[in-house]
Amino acid sequence: MNLYQFSLNGNPVQLHAPSDRLLVEVLRENFQIGSVKNGCAPQQQCGACLILINGIPKNSCALDMEKVQGKEVLTLEGVSADERQLYATAFQAAAGLQCGFCTPGLVLRIKWLADRGRPMSRAEIARALTGHLCRCTGYVKIIDAVELIFEAKRSGRLPQLGDSGAVGQSLPRYQGSELALGTRPFVADIEVAGMLHGAVVLSPHARARVVGIDTSRAAALAGVEKVITAKDVPGDRWVGQIYKDWPVLVAEGEEVRYVGDVLAIVAAESPSIARAAAALVQVAYEPLPPVLDPVEAIKPGAPQVNPRHDNVLSLTKIERGEVDAALASSAHVVSGTWRTQRIEHLFLEPEAALAVPLEGGKLHLLTQGQGVFDDRRQVASVLGEPEENIFAELVPNGGAFGGKEDMTIQAQTALAARLTGRPVRIELNREESIRMHPKRHPITMEYTVGCDAQGHLTAARINLLGDSGAYASVGGKVLERAAGHACGPYRIPAIDIEARAAYTNNPPCGAMRGFGVNQTSFAIEGCLDLLAKKVGIDGWEMRWRNAVRIGDVFSSGQVLDKSLGLERTLLAVKDAYYGARGSGRAVGLACGVKNSGIGNGAIEKGKCRLEVEADASVSLYSGFTEMGQGLFTVIIQFAVEVTGLPPSVFRPKVNSRFELGSGQTTGSRGTLLAGRATIDAATKLKKDLDAGQTLRDLVGRIYEGETTIDDTTAPGQTKNGIIKTHTSFGWSSQVVVLDEAGAVERVHVAQDVGRAINPQQCEAQIEGAVAMGLGYALTEELPCRDGMPVTFKPREIGVLRAPHMPKVDITLIEEHEPEGPFGAKGIGELGLVPTAGAVAAALEAFDGVRRMTLPMKDSPAARAIDVGLIKDGDRDQWH
Ligand code: FES
Ligand code: FES
Repeated sequence: MNLYQFSLNGNPVQLHAPSDRLLVEVLRENFQIGSVKNGCAPQQQCGACLILINGIPKNSCALDMEKVQGKEVLTLEGVSADERQLYATAFQAAAGLQCGFCTPGLVLRIKWLADRGRPMSRAEIARALTGHLCRCTGYVKIIDAVELIFEAKRSGRLPQLGDSGAVGQSLPRYQGSELALGTRPFVADIEVAGMLHGAVVLSPHARARVVGIDTSRAAALAGVEKVITAKDVPGDRWVGQIYKDWPVLVAEGEEVRYVGDVLAIVAAESPSIARAAAALVQVAYEPLPPVLDPVEAIKPGAPQVNPRHDNVLSLTKIERGEVDAALASSAHVVSGTWRTQRIEHLFLEPEAALAVPLEGGKLHLLTQGQGVFDDRRQVASVLGEPEENIFAELVPNGGAFGGKEDMTIQAQTALAARLTGRPVRIELNREESIRMHPKRHPITMEYTVGCDAQGHLTAARINLLGDSGAYASVGGKVLERAAGHACGPYRIPAIDIEARAAYTNNPPCGAMRGFGVNQTSFAIEGCLDLLAKKVGIDGWEMRWRNAVRIGDVFSSGQVLDKSLGLERTLLAVKDAYYGARGSGRAVGLACGVKNSGIGNGAIEKGKCRLEVEADASVSLYSGFTEMGQGLFTVIIQFAVEVTGLPPSVFRPKVNSRFELGSGQTTGSRGTLLAGRATIDAATKLKKDLDAGQTLRDLVGRIYEGETTIDDTTAPGQTKNGIIKTHTSFGWSSQVVVLDEAGAVERVHVAQDVGRAINPQQCEAQIEGAVAMGLGYALTEELPCRDGMPVTFKPREIGVLRAPHMPKVDITLIEEHEPEGPFGAKGIGELGLVPTAGAVAAALEAFDGVRRMTLPMKDSPAARAIDVGLIKDGDRDQWH
C-alpha cells in the first residue's frame, strides 16, 4: 500500500492504495463518484469512465494510482452548476441519451471539446467521439446535442425543452437530466451500509465433469465472509424462463455445460478481495468433448448437452398449400443457404444485483433485469422461500436489448445475502458479462423460393437450424418467431417451413432485439433480389408486387386485417431509391415486419397502479422495464393525455409493492401492454378529477388498470376457427445507399409506428436500431473457440462508433393500430430487421457479389469501418 495524493474536483484528497489499483475503482469505491461508470475496465474501450486529468481526457480505467499521484482529476461532479445545466438540457432537447450509461463520459468529453472553443463540423465531432461506445442511440442525436451545446456557448442561451406531455409531442426523457449527469444511480452505483461484495467462479470449460470444488484457500483469505457452492442452496438450484434447465450453481459430480456456468460465489469485504478469493477456489474438472456444432448436436447418438431435455430444444412447422407443385410450375426458382452469426448484446452496463436483508426476514432485491416479477419468482424458488419474502425492485438499466431477460447473478446475489445475513452486491466485469448472458442465435437458413413470370411469389420451402447453446432460455421461442416471420412481409401462397433450435455447449442464445426475425429477413430479402434479377425487374418493383395487403395471409397463417402500413413505407422511400440509382449510386432496398407482443398463444397481461402520494405526485407502477427505450416517458404521456395533468406529476416505479405479475419486457410489447393498462388506470383517476377533486383531495387513493391479451393462437392452432398469431405488426422499408467507394453513405427508413407517441424518441429508437443493424450486416460477431468467445473487447466484437454512422433519414408512417394505446405499436426491434438485407442488395449492386453470410466483412462497406478485427480465417476455424 502506498500513499497517493491528488486533487479531485478542486479538493485535495489522499488515500492508501496498491500502486496497480485503477483510478476508476478508486473514484467509484472510495469517493462515490457516480458519473464515472465502469463499462469495460480495464479494457479502455468504451469511454464510460472518462475523466479529465490535468485538463486532458483519459479513461480512468487506463490509469493506475502511480499515474494519478499529484495530478488534478476532474469529473462531472466538479463542473459548474451552469455548465451542468447546459449539458443536461442539450442532451434532453436533442434526445441524445437513452439508457444514459454512456452519457456522463460523453458529456465530459464534450465539455472538453467545447472549452477549446473551436468550431467543428459533424464529421469532426463524430471523430472526436470515437473513443465512446453507445449501444443505444446510433450517435446521431448525440452529435445533435453537441451542436446545441456549441450554439448555446456562442449565443449564451439554453436550448429549449418542450414540456407538453401530450401524445404526439416529444416530451424530454424522464430523468434525462439526472442520467446525463450521472446522478441517477444504476445498481452498481448503490451503496448500502455494511455491504459485502460478491464475485463468481466461472467454468473455463464448455463441457466437463466437476470432480471436486475446494474452497478452503478462498475461505481463509482475510476479508472473506463466505464461499458458497451448490450444496448451500436451500431451494431449487435450477431456474429458467420456460424450462428449468439452468443451475445457478453447478454441483460436484455434475457437468458444466458452457463457459458461463457458476461453480462458486465469494462474499467479501471489498470487490478486490472477492475477486482475489474467487481466483483461489480450486475446481477439479474431467474435461469432456464439447458439442459445438448444432448439425451434429441433433444427430442420433450425440451426447446430450442438457440433462433436462434432448438436444432438439424446439421444432416448429408451418405448412400451407402444395409447395412441390407450386415450385414445379414456377417460372423462376432460387435456392441457397444463408448464414448468420452469434451476436453479443454489448449493453453498456454490465449486469449487477444488490440484495439487502430486511427486518422481519424479507429480502430487498435490486435488479436490472427485464422482468422484475420473473426475477422475484425465480429467486424465491432458489432460496426456497415464498415469493412474498422478496421485495423486488427494478433499477432502470443501462441497456439490455433482450440480454437481461434471463437472470445472471440475481439469484447468486440473493443467496449470498441470505447466507451471510448482510447486504451483498455483485457486479460482473465485461468478460464475465459476455460469458454469462445469452446471445443472438446463429442460424443456418436453407431457402427455396419461386415466383411467376411477373415476379409474384408462388412458394417457399424453408429450413432453419439455430444454435441455442447450453440452456433453453427462450431459444425455442426465437426459432418459432423466426419461422413465423420467415417469408418476411410478402404474400406467398404455398409454404413449408421447419425450424429447429439445438442445444450445444456454446453460450446460450435467447432474446435479442429482433428475436429471430433479423436472421430470416436477411435470407428472404436475398431471395427476392435473386428472383427480381431473373424476372428482370428492380428491387422496389419486386417488393411492391409482393408486399402484403389487407386480406393477405402472413407466414404464420394470420389473415392481415388492420394497420398495415407496408405499402406506405415503400412509397415513402421510392424517390430515395430511384433517385440514388439515377445518380449512379449502388442502392439496396429491403422491407421488414416485426410483431408487437409475444403472441403465439401466450396470455399477456399489463397492469398498472396509480397511487396519489402525500406530495400530490402520482406514482405510476407498471411491471415493465425501462432500459433506455423510453417506456417510462411514453407511459407518462399516456397518463398526461388521459388526465390532463402535467407530466411532472407522474413518477414511474417498477417493484413488487403491488402484485402486477407482468412478465418480460420483450417482443416490442412494453408500450402496448403498459400503455393500455396505464390508460385504464388514468381514466379512473380522470373521473375523480372531473368530479372536482384535486390530487390533494385524493392522497392515498390507488387506481387500478389492467389489460389482457388472450386471443392469439399458437403455431398450427386456431381459436374459433381463426389464426391470430400476433396482436399487432410493425412494417418498414429501408434503402441503403453506398458512396463511390462502396461504404454506406445514407440509410432511408420509412417505418409504420402506428402512432408516434413521442416522435423524437421514435426516431432515436430507429437510429439506434439502424446502427445495430449495420453492425450486424458488416462487422459484428462473437465467434467461439471450443465454446469460449474468442474476444471480450467491444472493438473486436465490431460495434459501430460515431464516425461509422451514415446519414439516416427517417419517415414515420402512422397507420393507426386499433389494439394499440392511442394507435401505437411496438417500434424497438423493427428498425434493424431489414438493414442487413438492404446492405447486401446495395453491395451486390456495387460489386456484383451476392453475400449470403453475416457479417459481410469482405465487403468495401465493412472495410470502411475500423472495428471488428476478428480475422475471417479465425472465424471459419472457430465456427
Ligand atoms: S470502463 Fe474505462 S473505457 Fe470502459
Ligand atoms: S445511451 Fe448510450 S449506451 Fe445507452
